[in-house]
Amino acid sequence: MNSKDQNVLVCTFGKEVHEGLTSFPKYLSSKFFYDEVGDKLFQQIMDLPEYYLTNAEYDIFQLHKTNIIQSFDFNKNGFDLVELGAGDGKKTKVILNELLDQKYPVIYHPIDISENAINGLVKNLALELPDLNVKGQIGEYFEVLDRLQHISDRKKVIMVLGSNIGNLLHPRAIQFLKKLNGVMHPDDLVFIGFDQKKHPQKVLDAYNDQSGVTAAFNKNVLTRINKELGGNFNLDAFIHWEVYDPESGTAKSYLVSTKKQTVDIDCLSLQVHFEAWESVHTEISQKYDDDTVKWLAEESGFEITGSFTDDNKYYKNYVFKKSE
Ligand SMILES: C[S@@+](CC[C@H](N)C(=O)[O-])C[C@H]1O[C@@H](n2cnc3c(N)ncnc32)[C@H](O)[C@@H]1O
Repeated sequence: MNSKDQNVLVCTFGKEVHEGLTSFPKYLSSKFFYDEVGDKLFQQIMDLPEYYLTNAEYDIFQLHKTNIIQSFDFNKNGFDLVELGAGDGKKTKVILNELLDQKYPVIYHPIDISENAINGLVKNLALELPDLNVKGQIGEYFEVLDRLQHISDRKKVIMVLGSNIGNLLHPRAIQFLKKLNGVMHPDDLVFIGFDQKKHPQKVLDAYNDQSGVTAAFNKNVLTRINKELGGNFNLDAFIHWEVYDPESGTAKSYLVSTKKQTVDIDCLSLQVHFEAWESVHTEISQKYDDDTVKWLAEESGFEITGSFTDDNKYYKNYVFKKSE
């Protein structure tokens, strides 16, 4: 990333923190959880017994990798595999390995808002899969979509894994999918993971683990404000709080102030006042069923051409193509 891109990300962070903490009710975007510390905490979350999502998607890839690749309908002329919000690529490696084994001429383009995640993934792939052509990019989903159409004229499969789409409420998810649709060529495809509705306790536990890693992950946004924007948040004066509404399928994470307090954020020349028990909404993790995914796809100009699930039916990956 050049220093201009770095400045854009820092400015965006400051601007959005200002906007969120001066709104009522207060909010901060979950995309700001991820830096070197946040990426490590998310890796720990993926290993938690409560966080079933990673294993479910991993199992889907192990079980169905041959059919998944067939569903991409690649010819052997070469294609681009683009991944939005790639993280550490833990599950993607199953697909990448299979593509290399089958000698598909693929270029892998992992894209992530976290510079640390992309640098780590590119380095790791150079060691683990030295024959793979990798072109990592740092950027935010909505912004990188504009760049996507200029990557090449080859067929593209755009992957959105880890139920990353679930961090967007339905109207924003449709906006994102419509924008994605707008930059795709007719034979490009989307391969996208949607966590499914299930026992409400199972969902709640996934974001409220006993060991407190999710709480530390949620609070990392405050640590980032302290470090990068000169804030003085006392992390002990906030608690992590999770709720799940089985009707809407929306899990929501909050940070709740345990007392009346004022926080200074020097770089923003901002004082933020909190009442006792006032909340800051930080993340949504939407859960889906087939009808909702079909509705989202149709609203965004897609049709579903395939889907893959795990033995427990906790999670599903769908293949979308542009509607004719
Ligand atoms: C929940 S993790 C999932 C990572 C990976 N897809 C997986 O399934 O293991 C979300 C990833 O998306 C990235 N991310 C979150 N919001 C983003 C945004 N708005 N634009 C680009 N990347 C984003 C984060 O940095 C993180 O690596």
